[in-house]
Amino acid sequence: MAIPRHLIPTIPFFILLSTLLLSGESRSDTNNVFSPCGDAKVQRKDGFTFGIAFASRTAFFSTNNSVQLSPCDHRLSLSNGNSQVAVFRPKVDEISLLTINTSNFFPDSVGGYMVAFAGRKYAARSIPAFVANSTYSVSSFTLVLEFKKGRLQNLYWKRDGCTSCSGNSNFVCLNNQDCAIRTNNCKNRGGSVDCSLGIQLTFSGTDKHNSVFNSWYEVQNLRQYSLYGLYSNLRDSLTSQYNNFF
Ligand SMILES: *[C@@H]1O[C@H](CO)[C@@H](O)[C@H](O)[C@H]1NC(C)=O
Ligand SMILES: *[C@@H]1O[C@H](CO)[C@@H](O)[C@H](O)[C@H]1NC(C)=O
Ligand SMILES: *[C@@H]1O[C@H](CO)[C@@H](O)[C@H](O)[C@H]1NC(C)=O
Repeated sequence: MAIPRHLIPTIPFFILLSTLLLSGESRSDTNNVFSPCGDAKVQRKDGFTFGIAFASRTAFFSTNNSVQLSPCDHRLSLSNGNSQVAVFRPKVDEISLLTINTSNFFPDSVGGYMVAFAGRKYAARSIPAFVANSTYSVSSFTLVLEFKKGRLQNLYWKRDGCTSCSGNSNFVCLNNQDCAIRTNNCKNRGGSVDCSLGIQLTFSGTDKHNSVFNSWYEVQNLRQYSLYGLYSNLRDSLTSQYNNFF
């Protein structure tokens, strides 16, 4: 398979208003790859850059053989279509909560699905996750970045089978995996809930010195909204509203 050389210009790199919490400044960051479409080899305490692309589900697949391609691959015409990309640089092996403010970005208006991705020659991408349509919005996700000897191998969504919202009438369990809010309960959509996206992030596997990432062990016990209570500095809008729900 041919590997496209210049990928970044093919994607409209809109950096959405995104916050990275619990990471802190790091002087020990030795990773100088800052593009989500570059190939990095990391060690513990490094930053690692990856992207999340928002588009329709079909926009992530090649048109002729329905293979899911990386958003860095120019054969996907994400730039011609309706899509958005957010870029993050969390610290490797730290559990983080990434947020994407949806006060003027409606995921459903660009197709309602998202894919996490990084790398070019060693490209990895998650399967598309449903975020929102005009009926339902999923606002909390857990993403696992799996490394082998410091190279990203895989990105996947960890689901908890709706355990965090079962029996809670504010939520609907979609496909037995995601707790969703009705979109018309979201702010700017007729309701009062801040449906900004929260992505709980964790790392598994090994770094380039073969040290094992530990954050995975902690995330085994994470549920869909587990981290929200930890962030007193997250705007009231998110923390307290979910504390009220659960
Ligand atoms: C169509 O599929 C072939 C074989 O997988 C691939 O090489 C080619 O790039 C594809 N073309 C487009 C436009 O996706
Ligand atoms: C999103 O932005 C709006 C407007 O600036 C703000 O009121 C709201 O608190 C923000 N939400 C989060 C989770 O930061
Ligand atoms: C919204 O998504 C849900 C879950 O995937 C689906 O059941 C429903 O039909 C969708 N509604 C619309 C209007 O697309």
